[in-house]
Amino acid sequence: MNNTISDIKITKCQSSKINEVDFENLVFGNIFTDHMLLCDYKDGVWQQPEIVPYAPFLMDPSSKVFHYGQAIFEGMKAYKDAHDDIWLFRPDQNFDRFNKSATRLAMPEVPEEVFIGGLKQLIQLEKDWVKHGNGSALYIRPFMIATGHGVIAAPSTEYRFMIILSPAKSYYSGEVKVIIAEHFSRAANGGIGAAKAAGNYSGQFYPTKLANEEGFQQIIWTDDATHTKLEEAGTMNVFFRINDVLYTAPTSERILDGVTRKSVIDLAKREGIQVEVRSVLVDELVQAAKDGSLKEIFGAGTAAVINPIAGFSYKGEYFELPKMENSFAQEIKTKLTGIQTKELEDTF
Ligand code: COI
Repeated sequence: MNNTISDIKITKCQSSKINEVDFENLVFGNIFTDHMLLCDYKDGVWQQPEIVPYAPFLMDPSSKVFHYGQAIFEGMKAYKDAHDDIWLFRPDQNFDRFNKSATRLAMPEVPEEVFIGGLKQLIQLEKDWVKHGNGSALYIRPFMIATGHGVIAAPSTEYRFMIILSPAKSYYSGEVKVIIAEHFSRAANGGIGAAKAAGNYSGQFYPTKLANEEGFQQIIWTDDATHTKLEEAGTMNVFFRINDVLYTAPTSERILDGVTRKSVIDLAKREGIQVEVRSVLVDELVQAAKDGSLKEIFGAGTAAVINPIAGFSYKGEYFELPKMENSFAQEIKTKLTGIQTKELEDTF
């Protein structure tokens, strides 16, 4: 791309829809701001990025994204501090991961001036949509789709990178009960589990629908080969507190290298909590639930932030978790959101 970020072309919408939005009662990911960023890739180069009014757009029905799911995305958030300044939380980590996902899906890397520079310009334009307090944030969804036409099963030569923004509060509306996977898998060694590929999420919809029918909101995935090791939950990395030690699975070809996961590990250590990054066995978890040493399970992710898990089911048996007074999840969430909104100093 020969253009610099100052070349972004901005077309503003005629009137904002912000006054129609009930910011106190948001359903996650349902409402989008007035503008979006787009940048096309063709003839081997990124074209001029544009910010345009949020709107549907036309695509060729043979576009490869529709047939082969060549699509990746990221999840990020912008926060407003008490001085009305807007902050992004570790955007460089999402940018790096996005381009790793792109490489894994045979897509071109997106230049930093388009991803980070474009995002900053878009957020500047939409700054009134970032609210403070009460878990409020602007959820950022950068994504890339294969727009090249033709149903031959080969990587596209044309792509569209976009960023859309959605005002958000919490992801889950109540307590989360999970089921431990005994048959279905999210990812396999050598596969795309570590990438933020669209197909990693759609592949979970059917098993999650079955779990929902049994009254569970999410699945904790186990390794595909033996179903004995706990890996990650549908939209979050997952942490287990057994006695006073916090465990989480190591990242691998099957597990997403979560930005929030990394922050939780660092924060917990800084708070003096013993953290062990190692595989936790399903049997170990069931045993700990039975003997009372399992104190907490919680998920960590950008959208979900830190989400406590009320209980889990395995082989038809349900284990309710105790209600902890000194919950690690709560302690870490308070610190993390404090750092994100700049109420607390970020020293790690
Ligand atoms: C996020 O936490 O941002 C994610 O990408 C999960 C998503 C499926 C909501």
